[in-house]
Amino acid sequence: MGEIKKIAVLTSGGDAPGMNAAIRSVVRAGIKEGYEVYGVQRGYHGLLRGELEQMNTRDVSEILQRGGTMLHTARSKEFTEEAGQQKAKEILEVFGIDALIVIGGDGSFRGARDLSKLGVPVIGIPATIDNDVACSDFSIGFDTAVNTGLAAIDRIRETASSHERCSVIEVMGRNAGFIAMEVGIGCGAECVLIPEVAFDLEKDVCQQLLKGRNMGKHHFIVVLAEGAGSAVEMAKTIEEITEIETRATVLGYVQRGGSPSAFDRMIASLMGIRAVECIAQGRFNRVVIDREGRIQDIDLEEGLSMKKTIYPGSLGAVDTLF
Ligand code: F6P
Repeated sequence: MGEIKKIAVLTSGGDAPGMNAAIRSVVRAGIKEGYEVYGVQRGYHGLLRGELEQMNTRDVSEILQRGGTMLHTARSKEFTEEAGQQKAKEILEVFGIDALIVIGGDGSFRGARDLSKLGVPVIGIPATIDNDVACSDFSIGFDTAVNTGLAAIDRIRETASSHERCSVIEVMGRNAGFIAMEVGIGCGAECVLIPEVAFDLEKDVCQQLLKGRNMGKHHFIVVLAEGAGSAVEMAKTIEEITEIETRATVLGYVQRGGSPSAFDRMIASLMGIRAVECIAQGRFNRVVIDREGRIQDIDLEEGLSMKKTIYPGSLGAVDTLF
């Protein structure tokens, strides 16, 4: 690998609050390292269309506190094929890009790994509200999404209490239950349902709610991860079985927006710096991670092979605090 002169950064997959903080960090740390830094618009889709533009420190002013991604993001079917990946490599060569930083989740990292196999040096920065990037304790955006969900459920609890109802709230997370688990414990839910743990609606939910009513509870919160079911259908069934008036709320894309939390701004800023450090030290094809409170980096392939489970201690907490 010759001297690094130009690096590029893109955001890919579902957007996450804090992506802008990571972009800002990569641009400013890269310029400090003496690199030209290029922003790629619309992820791999934009890369394939040569949508690269050099960025300066002023281009990333006033974005630290804004959700979303100033580079936009998009999904790219073309890039999933080898021909598309080869074309992306050639476009990076045309622009003289020496290394590419990919801010996104597992799917984005698999694309980065494919580029690395064609000889493009890459660095991944985990950013997805799902927090399902197994090699990092936290991904950028997760903390903000959890706090957004919590604020919404605290409001829902007030109306559920007034009407003495059960509220089923569906949260995002794709096939993972990290958002649901953390939001569920944080809001004091009576039940938390996640794809990682099988459950029987009648036994584990309806009977639990009736037990709660016998204990004197007058309203109930059920947090449902989208990968474990549909709140609308579940609410109907719960009402039929328990005769407790039940309503459904799907939080949806509310969880993807908003100003990033202090935590997300912190890890995003430090991860961007670490990504540039990896490049400066000639350590390519790495994922920057937050592990045990420290920003580190590991081999990309190794990172993609890892598995992450729900923290065992949290599984029992909902029942203990019922
Ligand atoms: O991966 C983040 C996420 O918000 C998931 O939680 C959700 O299932 C998915 O993206 C929605 O994808 P899209 O934004 O493409 O509809």
